[in-house]
Amino acid sequence: MKYNDIDFNDKTILITGGAGFIGSNLAFYFQENFPESTIVVFDKFRSEERFSNGNLKSFGHYKNLIGFHGDIICGDINSKDDMQLLEKYDFDYIFHEAAISDTRVYDQEVIMQTNVNSFYDILEMARKKNAVLVYASSAATYGSQPSPQTVGMEGPENPYGFSKYAMDQIAYRYMKEYPEMTIVGLKYFNVYGSREFFKDKTASTVIQFGHQILSGKAPRLFEGSDRIVRDFIYIKDVIQANIKACTPKKNGVYNVGTSKPRSFQDIADILQKELGTDYGTEYFPNPFTGYQMHTQADISTSREYLGFEPEWELEEGIRDYIEEIKTIYDTEVADG
Ligand SMILES: NC(=O)c1ccc[n+]([C@@H]2O[C@H](COP(=O)([O-])OP(=O)(O)OC[C@H]3O[C@@H](n4cnc5c(N)ncnc54)[C@H](O)[C@@H]3O)[C@@H](O)[C@H]2O)c1
Repeated sequence: MKYNDIDFNDKTILITGGAGFIGSNLAFYFQENFPESTIVVFDKFRSEERFSNGNLKSFGHYKNLIGFHGDIICGDINSKDDMQLLEKYDFDYIFHEAAISDTRVYDQEVIMQTNVNSFYDILEMARKKNAVLVYASSAATYGSQPSPQTVGMEGPENPYGFSKYAMDQIAYRYMKEYPEMTIVGLKYFNVYGSREFFKDKTASTVIQFGHQILSGKAPRLFEGSDRIVRDFIYIKDVIQANIKACTPKKNGVYNVGTSKPRSFQDIADILQKELGTDYGTEYFPNPFTGYQMHTQADISTSREYLGFEPEWELEEGIRDYIEEIKTIYDTEVADG
């Protein structure tokens, strides 16, 4: 699938965070559609280290890259020495996905260092190498701002959301100071799809509910889940947004969602339909404060300046994804 006229063959592409969910999907997108491109994945991969919330410090996993033939560099975006390893490449495009992606890490120092300090280096690299820069921002920058969430109306309510908000502000300054650069930030809403499994508990509820159902149990949802709605966006639409972001009509930060919010209950019900089960639902109290109850991306500027048009309804995305949910269950979950 090609989303615009860019021929990425003979181009050199950096994907930071390329061993993670979205980054690895980008890597395979280029490999499959532009076999002559030079693709460089830069990722810290996972170690055994964990945050105080029990989650791993980074989710990159080699299994996301099995079948990938490009260059892989294991490095930390916080390390100047590791970043030096990228100097020899003449990048045309940089997709910056590396980050602490876990929205429930509250150590402000580590989040700001990882997500924000490194961003100055990425921006400078893009400037010096004259590369197009597309980076991952987030819907978490909106906190509990009312729907539809609109770029410019942010109100982050946790350190992760603030770190992405800070990245956007730095990007805006660069866009102003260096108008010759191409810089686009993408505020992803709730992404689901292939290669997200290794995000463990931070993977989308689509795979989590899917695996609960496959284990023969009713999916476990927060009480009132028919009223908790989110803008769920399928990974293939996220790839579309990244490709279209390479030829923006205007530099900027854009929402990446469907603008059609759906409830967590919908996800559970669609999954049961796809898997042919009728287990009902198990409800439990929502333990979180500061929980987003309603998100809906305003994608008017994404449409206008990127030409972004979401193609996947929730039902279609889950149908497209269901075989992988089953395979991952069989290979990674079922045997313990
Ligand atoms: N998935 C979503 O729903 C979503 C929503 C909004 C924003 N985002 C953003 O999109 C980007 C990609 O998210 P994802 O879902 O693929 O998450 P992910 O955790 O699977 O991918 C992030 C990757 O960055 C790597 N990484 C982390 N710290 C690093 C460091 N210090 N140096 C080098 N690599 C490091 C990890 O190993 C991982 O492979 C992130 O910036 C995330 O914040 C994701």
